Amino acid sequence: MKIQTRAVHAGDRKKAGPHVPVTTPIHTAASYFYETMEELDRVFGREEAGYCYARYDNPSNAALEELASSLESGHGALACGSGMAAIHMALLSALADRRKSILAANALYGATVSLLMNVMEASGITVRFADVCDLDAFRKAVDEQKPGCVLIETISNPLLRVAPLDRIAEIAQEAGAALVVDNTFATPLLLRPLELGANFTVHSATKYLAGHGDVLGGIVVTDAAHYDGLRALSRAVGPVLGPFESYLTMRGIKTLPLRMERQCANACRVASWLASHDAIGRVYFPADPAHPDAAAIRRLLPQGLYGAMVSFELKDAGRDEIFRFMNALRLIVRATSLGDVHSMMLYPVMSSHREVSPRHRERMGIRDSLVRLSVGIEAVEDIIEDLEQALRHTR
Ligand SMILES: Cc1ncc(COP(=O)(O)O)c(C=O)c1O
Repeated sequence: MKIQTRAVHAGDRKKAGPHVPVTTPIHTAASYFYETMEELDRVFGREEAGYCYARYDNPSNAALEELASSLESGHGALACGSGMAAIHMALLSALADRRKSILAANALYGATVSLLMNVMEASGITVRFADVCDLDAFRKAVDEQKPGCVLIETISNPLLRVAPLDRIAEIAQEAGAALVVDNTFATPLLLRPLELGANFTVHSATKYLAGHGDVLGGIVVTDAAHYDGLRALSRAVGPVLGPFESYLTMRGIKTLPLRMERQCANACRVASWLASHDAIGRVYFPADPAHPDAAAIRRLLPQGLYGAMVSFELKDAGRDEIFRFMNALRLIVRATSLGDVHSMMLYPVMSSHREVSPRHRERMGIRDSLVRLSVGIEAVEDIIEDLEQALRHTR
């Protein structure tokens, strides 16, 4: 054949031999070749296992999905291009054959609130919010609204409230509502919502799952009843993760338990150091015995694993003092996101809750003096030293 033809075809479409790669390769092909039309027809018809088109599924994504599903005790999973795409897929799938009505926690990640208000409600779905840490209020809201779906986060952002997930699952189930749980902050090392009665667990894989600040991704893990519906929806909508990001996320997950154990231990040390510092006001951390959700925390979180997020207030501080404090940080990275191997700090008033009015923020308990720290895997002494020197520069 001529060089133009060989340039396109030579070397490709080789059948793998009996060898099995030790880790999953990055499969970038958009479509798959079979020796005969009959085989391709059976794969298209799902009478035979195989891959035909990367929007339907892809071997790199399938490996990540199997891994995520195993960690979350699910029936199956869907890897998506972002955490927001994963939440959207889970909500659409949960509502597929239910009342078009969502009851959501009143403390959710800002973009999730935007998704609910600007996309879901704007397309005719009813959206209401309730305090899911107050079970009486939550039950009353369920009775009144009769939602098709309930949406909560396991550990809320930035005040780190811990929802009584097991009781919420009972109430949702009795009411016939699907329960969607964003488990990004807790990770499956701390909590596995599907084991407690949830129907969908979602993650921003951008955070702890991938863990290195180099991936944007999301995962939905679901029970058996919702899996086929979720995959059919995905085939139609096409929110899938790219294979390179799948590879990075899988690589990240291999060290998730190691990273998370270290990050949780570091966070415990940082939180107690902060609580004893006279320039620090309130410290928000689930290990605090005076935490408003102490009963749920004792029941649901393993001893010593309280997450690796710590929020705290600087005494008598406003925006200027917080900027001085954060500008003085030398190790802790001033950036949005969380869950990376490196420690990161964020000013919620400027970022995640920027669009919320000051009065509404005050009602939510998010003050101008509050910062949120995602504790990394560094030596904890260095993290504390950085906080200490930055506080010295602030006064
Ligand atoms: C709890 C939570 N859920 C979902 C998301 C959205 O994830 P992504 O940015 O990957 O779309 C975030 C992002 O910060 C988050 O913190």
